[in-house]
Amino acid sequence: MIITIDGPAGAGKSSAAKRLAREIGFDFLDTGAMYRCVTLACLRQQLLLSRVDEVAAIARAVEIEMRENHVFMNGEDVSEEIRMPSVTQSIRPVADNASVRQALVAAQHRWTEGRDVVTEGRDQGTVAFPNAQCKIFLTATPEERAHRRVEQLIELGMDAHYEEILQQQNQRDVHDTMRESGGLKSAPDSITVWTDGMSEEQVLQKLVEIVQTKMPASASK
Ligand code: C5P
Repeated sequence: MIITIDGPAGAGKSSAAKRLAREIGFDFLDTGAMYRCVTLACLRQQLLLSRVDEVAAIARAVEIEMRENHVFMNGEDVSEEIRMPSVTQSIRPVADNASVRQALVAAQHRWTEGRDVVTEGRDQGTVAFPNAQCKIFLTATPEERAHRRVEQLIELGMDAHYEEILQQQNQRDVHDTMRESGGLKSAPDSITVWTDGMSEEQVLQKLVEIVQTKMPASASK
């Protein structure tokens, strides 16, 4: 069984998807981490990200594995490095590259074959798994998402200004939504969950409730 969770940055998708997978005994696929790995591989090779064919060749060649919440690129644990600002700031042309998207969606299909999976991203219910049995669109108002991001950054000891974060986030939302292939949108058959004012625990309970209504009796626990 495939459960897709899509939504904008800062909606709490990653932690919700991870917790849901653990709760129901499914594997978890973080597709954002795949775009991050390809970006990291390109940066290491000092490849110009505008060279679409070369970047796509890297996306096809790179081996990405996910085990126990760690991300491995060609066998190396890059879980922390792919979250560095240098990677985050460079992802856009990689995620906009249609051939990269094709290669990563193919890799997502291979990864999920024969497994029960919670997969999280922007295009999982629309492009990657249009026939998924359970599709969730997890979102929150831009203001709530920006407040959460500011809190996270302050917890990490970093300087964060609400107005600035909100503005950057709005730009990212527009770009994610307008992306020609794999743009962020909710699938017509997805269930939208607004997480404003909800704790992580409440979000988890809500997702479990939704999944239970979609789960066939034969799906693994
Ligand atoms: O979710 P995360 O922030 O790790 O995603 C990193 C980047 O990859 C985002 O900028 C997002 O636009 C892109 N992405 C994507 N398609 C996905 C998952 C992430 O384009 N399925």
